Amino acid sequence: MRVLTGIQSSGDLHIGNYFGSIKQMIDSQGKGEVFAFIANYHAMTSIHDGERLASLTMQAAIDFLALGMDPQKSTFWVQSDVKEVLELYWALSAFTPMGLLERGHSYKDKTARGIASTHNLFSYPVLMAADILLFNSDIIPVGKDQIQHVEMARDIATKFNNMHGDIFVIPEHRVDDNVATVPGIDGQKMSKSYGNTINIFGEEKKQLKTIKKIVTEAIPLEDPKEYEECNVYNIAKLFLNESEQKELQERYKRGGEGHGHFKLYLHDLIWEYFGPYREKREYFENNQDEVRDILAFGASKARNVAMPIIEKVRQATGIKY
Ligand code: ADP
Ligand code: TRP
Repeated sequence: MRVLTGIQSSGDLHIGNYFGSIKQMIDSQGKGEVFAFIANYHAMTSIHDGERLASLTMQAAIDFLALGMDPQKSTFWVQSDVKEVLELYWALSAFTPMGLLERGHSYKDKTARGIASTHNLFSYPVLMAADILLFNSDIIPVGKDQIQHVEMARDIATKFNNMHGDIFVIPEHRVDDNVATVPGIDGQKMSKSYGNTINIFGEEKKQLKTIKKIVTEAIPLEDPKEYEECNVYNIAKLFLNESEQKELQERYKRGGEGHGHFKLYLHDLIWEYFGPYREKREYFENNQDEVRDILAFGASKARNVAMPIIEKVRQATGIKY
């Protein structure tokens, strides 16, 4: 069973990314075959500053390795290091009706929010289909917003297979209902596009400043407080086991402490949780040549899987002559 996922290098990773996706990916290593890559071609739809994209891609690789991505157990690479994906993207484009892309929510949402309607933003789902189909992936763990993209990959693969024989595995999406949406500091879904994130590897003072901005109810210090709807509680609970959650609930109910206290507690929780990862991160930050070697090794493993598939596509489509 091959499980494949991609994450865009379009900004700093935040704790929503961590609990919503990265942690599951890391924990599932060794259970199935994990294929994970940094989608830097996809990030080109929003980042046009080359230096910044290169740096974000390296930083994302460092973050993943620090958080426990194991290049021996898993196949971990940067999307642009396996260029065959672009070739497949073009071949698949011939099997992608315009109407399919015109119905894409993500394109409509992004352009409605003022993002320029470029061709790469429009055809982004075809590249995502190529990411998935190039590696015969079975399962694609995604957030709800990405289900439609996996459906598109299935449609495109089916059209291609109908014409050329069973070349592609038809992938399935997997949405983990146990994974709650992590709220941002304003209570909306945490997302880099809303500017409401707490980063995994932020600087300490900056993290504290961000946490202090978490929106909470104004209630006198001595009064009991609601925890269910409290953004501070809902972020803190991600880091706590059941009995620790109960303890924190009691502190809310008891009164005598303000949200400021809970915010300081949350800051300490996050800072401690990521402490060991921060040390590993520093190691990779100072040894970027080693990171490059790891990524090159990952790309070669990924390419070994991709080559026979792209060969079949070349044969089938007549590109091989
Ligand atoms: P962002 O919204 O910050 O741009 P992405 O869309 O790049 O994040 O998401 C990358 C991965 O992280 C996806 O699998 C997505 O489902 C997950 N993710 C992002 N934000 C959250 C969140 N607030 N709660 C849970 N999972 C999230
Ligand atoms: N589009 C995905 C996102 O924004 C990232 C992505 C690119 C991806 N290619 C993929 C996810 C292939 C899963 C499989 O989150």
